Amino acid sequence: MAASSRRNFLQQISAAALITAATPAALSWALPPSGRPLVLQAQSVPLPGEDGMLLRSFRFVDLETPVEYFNTWLTPVPHFFVRNHMHEPIEFDAHQWRLSIAGEVEKPLTLSLSDLSKFETHSVVNTLECAGNGRGLYRPQVPGIQWGKGAVSTARFSGVRLRDVLQRAGVRPSGKHVMFRGLDEVPGKVPPFIRSIPVEKALDSDTLVATHMNGLPLTKHHGFPARALVPGWIGAASCKWLTEVKVLESEFVGNFMSPAYRFPNHPVQPGEAVKPEDTHVLTALNVKSVISGPADGSTVKADKLTVQGAAWAGEADIVKVEISIDGGSSWNPAKLGHEQEHYAWRLWSYDWKPPQRGDYSIMSRATDTQGRVQPATGEWNPSGYLNNAIDQVKIHVA
Ligand code: MTE
Repeated sequence: MAASSRRNFLQQISAAALITAATPAALSWALPPSGRPLVLQAQSVPLPGEDGMLLRSFRFVDLETPVEYFNTWLTPVPHFFVRNHMHEPIEFDAHQWRLSIAGEVEKPLTLSLSDLSKFETHSVVNTLECAGNGRGLYRPQVPGIQWGKGAVSTARFSGVRLRDVLQRAGVRPSGKHVMFRGLDEVPGKVPPFIRSIPVEKALDSDTLVATHMNGLPLTKHHGFPARALVPGWIGAASCKWLTEVKVLESEFVGNFMSPAYRFPNHPVQPGEAVKPEDTHVLTALNVKSVISGPADGSTVKADKLTVQGAAWAGEADIVKVEISIDGGSSWNPAKLGHEQEHYAWRLWSYDWKPPQRGDYSIMSRATDTQGRVQPATGEWNPSGYLNNAIDQVKIHVA
């Protein structure tokens, strides 16, 4: 990074830190660096259908992006979903922040933001999706945050390659997994949010210690001042408020690796017991598409309309999105948007002339470069993960 852009980076980070420090603790989580309120108080939380984020949990802030907002390739940060398992860190002085790199390394390191800014910068446009996205749509219902379709968003994440940082520390051959710890405020008996990823993914040239989102320093909701960014993988892999990176000889053992974020090796029936050894840890995302418009349940007065949405596939790329208006008997190709990057969703659109007035069901189905096709129903599982059912909206043409 050139000296002037390094200065810029630090100035932006300091400005964000000052705003965070100057804000009363109770509200500090609600303010992005611009100082513009993201979510104000409980009473002003927007209701579903209004112009605002959907509040899925207030105790630990969990905000869902309404699908109507899936109309820009990069999600504006105030519209980017938020998933917290516990309280966000209360106070933050970015100058005091340190990232430690230890464990199976030759030379343990402690890096400040200024140290980090001396590594080469790298950006990745990534669609981040919570493994529990769509949980609320599984039947029978399963416990957990009842996400609809909007625990997913896309941003350009920038920072430094985790690989460069790890190489500076020198990973020993015994190092097989890389563990992340965040600075969350852990309430009572809740186990801390610690997870690990295999060393191969940690050394991938697109895995980041990210400090910026869409060109601005991360907001507190999204992990200020630095987070891991593990592209194409479930959101839980991308640890926010990152403070510790530890190279381990084997996968980290803890609640958020097991029993959480695991998927049965074979389809299971509701009520059936699943042994931990019959499950695997979740990694890359599924192939999936979502219709962002027209809205489900809406009445449309038009003789032609454009169906639109987004489609993504984790570590694979989208090959096609198809639309059905006849309950899945026939499928027609949608037009894929020109904005395209490996880990990012593709926007798509489909122009349609309803043959007559009446009720219609519109379905969307994505296919990816691994040959995966979005299924009619997601694979039901006791934790409600990875629901990638074909999307459907019902509309009335008046
Ligand atoms: N990192 C920490 N430290 N604590 C958390 O609760 N939640 C994870 C991940 N990183 C979490 C975290 C989960 S489950 C998801 S889906 C993503 O952050 C969400 O990132 P976002 O809030 O920036 O959208």
